[in-house]
Amino acid sequence: MPTLLHLDCSARPESVSRQISTEFAVAWRAAHPEGRHIHRDLAATPVRHVDAAQIEVVTRLETAGTADLDEARQAARTAKERESWRHSWELIDELLACDVLLIGLPMYNFSVPSTFKAWFDRVAIPPLIVDSQTGKGPLSGRRTVVATARGGSYGPGSPRHGDDFQEPYLRTAFRMVGLADELHFLHAEMTKSGFVPGLASYRKAAVGSLRLAVERAREIARG
Ligand SMILES: Cc1cc2nc3c(=O)[nH]c(=O)nc-3n(C[C@H](O)[C@H](O)[C@H](O)COP(=O)(O)O)c2cc1C
Repeated sequence: MPTLLHLDCSARPESVSRQISTEFAVAWRAAHPEGRHIHRDLAATPVRHVDAAQIEVVTRLETAGTADLDEARQAARTAKERESWRHSWELIDELLACDVLLIGLPMYNFSVPSTFKAWFDRVAIPPLIVDSQTGKGPLSGRRTVVATARGGSYGPGSPRHGDDFQEPYLRTAFRMVGLADELHFLHAEMTKSGFVPGLASYRKAAVGSLRLAVERAREIARG
């Protein structure tokens, strides 16, 4: 049974990134009626930041060079470590079980929201990092779709071109854990043109950008 793991990170209910990720999920469910759709709202239910207990366990794995997932699962020793590690493994198991990872992701201060970063810091544990020789790891081969919404524009020719630290960061971070084998970005830009008077002339561009992102989301979901 194919599984879609769908994360949303926007703090806004009327969010544009949620709109695109929802369109993807609806199209995916229609194409995979037997599939499982797991939705995790990282804004409504934030993941706890990585803490000293998790870092202790991760350091132990790194020191021992543990690449085995089952060994890693058992690596917590103290009550605090076990409690923190259990929280991380709830997320890691969800990720390991999915075939498609979908993320609704606003741009906050040129990068990802802290809600997403807290999730990634919890799941990116050593055994999930790809082997340096083969470039493969336990998450390799999954399809990853990132639906972003940005108040401004970052494409070639725009004044802010080069200031997008969201897509380049994610490409590197996802490559580390094998989630970049089939990685799609869907960007809806100029979302602020809907309410900032000085950006009103970009409204058409914003509508076009959202329409393209939604069309592409539906295409990828069906594929
Ligand atoms: C805390 C915060 C920081 C933001 N920083 C940026 C930014 O650096 N660049 C940008 O283009 N838009 C920025 N925006 C605007 C959002 O990217 C824009 O409103 C987008 O539509 C948010 O996604 P959502 O519609 O899914 O909530 C920021 C918004 C917030 C709330």
